[in-house]
Amino acid sequence: MTGPRWCVLFAFGLVALGGPAVAADPDADPFADNACVQCHRDLPGRSSAIVELEWARSSHHAAGVGCDACHGGNAAVRRDRFDSDEAWKDAAHQRRDPEFMFMQRSADAFASSARGRNVSYFCGKCHANIKEKHLGSPHGEFGDPTCLYCHGQGSHAITEPTLDIIDGRSRAEGGRCSVCHLASTMNTLSRIKKTLTETEERIEDTTILYDELGQWGYHSLELERLYHDARQVRSRLRQVFHSFDMREINNFVAEIEMTVDRTVATHEIIGRLRAAQRRQAVIGGLVAVMLLAFALLLVYYRLAFCSGHGGDQAAAPVAEG
Ligand code: HEC
Ligand code: HEC
Ligand code: HEC
Ligand code: HEC
Ligand code: HEC
Repeated sequence: MTGPRWCVLFAFGLVALGGPAVAADPDADPFADNACVQCHRDLPGRSSAIVELEWARSSHHAAGVGCDACHGGNAAVRRDRFDSDEAWKDAAHQRRDPEFMFMQRSADAFASSARGRNVSYFCGKCHANIKEKHLGSPHGEFGDPTCLYCHGQGSHAITEPTLDIIDGRSRAEGGRCSVCHLASTMNTLSRIKKTLTETEERIEDTTILYDELGQWGYHSLELERLYHDARQVRSRLRQVFHSFDMREINNFVAEIEMTVDRTVATHEIIGRLRAAQRRQAVIGGLVAVMLLAFALLLVYYRLAFCSGHGGDQAAAPVAEG
C-alpha cells in the first residue's frame, strides 16, 4: 500500500521541482528537444525548407504534430549521447513508422512517394472520419486526387483549409479541378461551393446575433444546445464534404439552416420585446416626471398660499383674545 503512495508523493515532488522551470519560459519552443526538427532544420537543401518554410507554418506544427508523428523514428534521442551526427541520425531514423514505410518506393527510403489510396490511409490514422468519406468518394476510389493534392499542394505547408480549394478556374487558367473535370462537373462544383459559402456566411451572421442575445442577458438552454449543435454539424459538414456526395451535403446544410432560422427568429422576438420594454420604460419615466412635477406644484402651492393663510389663522386668536 505504501509503495504507490510514495510513488505519488515522488511524482508530486518531481512536478513541483519541474513545474516552475517549465512555466518560467512560456515562449519556449515545444520542439526544442525534438531530434528530427533540430537536425533537419540545419540540413542543406529541401530539408531546412521543409522545417522552416513549410511545416513551421502548418496546422500540424500549431497542433504540436512533429515529424516523428508522421514519419515515425525516435525523436527523443539527444545529440550529446552520440559521437557523431551520423550516429545520432541513425538512432533517430530507427523505428520508422511501418505505415509510412508501406508507402515507400524502396525499402531504404525513409520518405515516400505517397501515392493513391495509401495517402488516405496514412493521413486517416489521425483524420479517421475524413478518411472514410474520402475513400468512399469517387476521388478515393480512383486514388486521385489525394489528400496532399488538395491540402498543402504536395508540400508540408498544410494549413487551415478554405473553400478556395474548390477551384472554379478553367484548365486554360490553370485551374486545379478542371485538370480532370469537364464543364458539367464544374457546374456541380460551383453549386456546392456556393451552398457551402452561403452556409458559412449565415453561421457567421447568426454568431453575431447569438452573442448579442447573450449581451442582452437572454440565455436559453435550448438555444444554447441548438447553437452548440450547429457548430458541431458545421464541422461534420466539412468532413462529409469529402464524400463529394451532393445529397449528403445538402442534408447537412438543411440541418444547419434550421438552427440558423431558430436563432434569427429568437433574436427578432427578443429584440421586439426589448423595444417594447424600452417604450414602457420611457412612458414610465414620463409618468414619474409628471408625478414629481405635480408633487412639487403641491408643495409650492402649500408654501405660497397655505403658509400665508396659516399666519393669519395664528394671528387670529390673538386678535380675538
Ligand atoms: C502530417 C504528416 C507529416 C509531418 C508532420 C511531416 N511530414 Fe515529412 N512527409 C510527409 C509525407 C506524406 C511525405 C511524402 C510526400 C510525397 O511523397 O509527396 C513527406 C516527405 C518528407 C520528406 C521527403 C521530401 C522529398 O521531397 O523527398 C522529408 C525529407 C520529410 N518529409 C521531412 C520531414 C520533417 C523534417 C518533418 C518535421 C519538421 C516532417 N517531414 C513532418 C508527411 C509529414
Ligand atoms: C542528425 C541528423 C538527423 C536526425 C536527428 C534526423 N534526421 Fe532525418 N535525415 C537526415 C539526413 C542527413 C537525411 C538525408 C538522407 C540520409 O542521409 O539518410 C535525412 C533524411 C530523412 C528523410 C527522407 C529520407 C528519404 O529516405 O528520402 C526523412 C523523412 C527524415 N529524415 C525524417 C526524420 C525524422 C522523422 C527524424 C526524427 C525521428 C529524423 N529524420 C531525424 C538527418 C537527420
Ligand atoms: C478534392 C479536394 C480535397 C481532398 C482530396 C481532400 N480534402 Fe480535406 N478539405 C477540402 C476542402 C475544400 C475543405 C474545407 C471545406 C469547408 O471549408 O467547408 C477540407 C477540409 C478538411 C479538414 C478540416 C475539417 C474540419 O473539421 O474543419 C481536414 C482535417 C481535411 N480536409 C483533411 C483531409 C484528409 C485527411 C484528406 C484525405 C483523406 C482530405 N482532406 C482530402 C478538400 C479536399
Ligand atoms: C499524427 C496525427 C496526424 C497525422 C498523421 C496527420 N494529421 Fe492532420 N492534423 C492533426 C492534428 C492534431 C491537427 C490539428 C487539429 C485539427 O484541426 O484537427 C491536424 C490538422 C490538419 C488540417 C487542418 C485542419 C484545420 O481546420 O486547421 C489538415 C487540412 C490536415 N490536418 C490534413 C492532413 C493530411 C493531408 C495528412 C496526411 C499527409 C495529415 N493531416 C496527417 C493530426 C494529424
Ligand atoms: C486526378 C483527377 C481529378 C482531379 C484533379 C479532381 N477530380 Fe473530382 N473526380 C475525379 C473522378 C475520376 C471522379 C469520378 C467521375 C466523375 O464524376 O467525373 C470525380 C468526381 C468528382 C465529383 C462528383 C461529381 C458528381 O457529379 O457526382 C466532385 C464533386 C468532384 N470530383 C470535385 C472535385 C474538386 C472540387 C476538385 C478540385 C479540388 C477535383 N474534383 C479534382 C477526378 C479528379
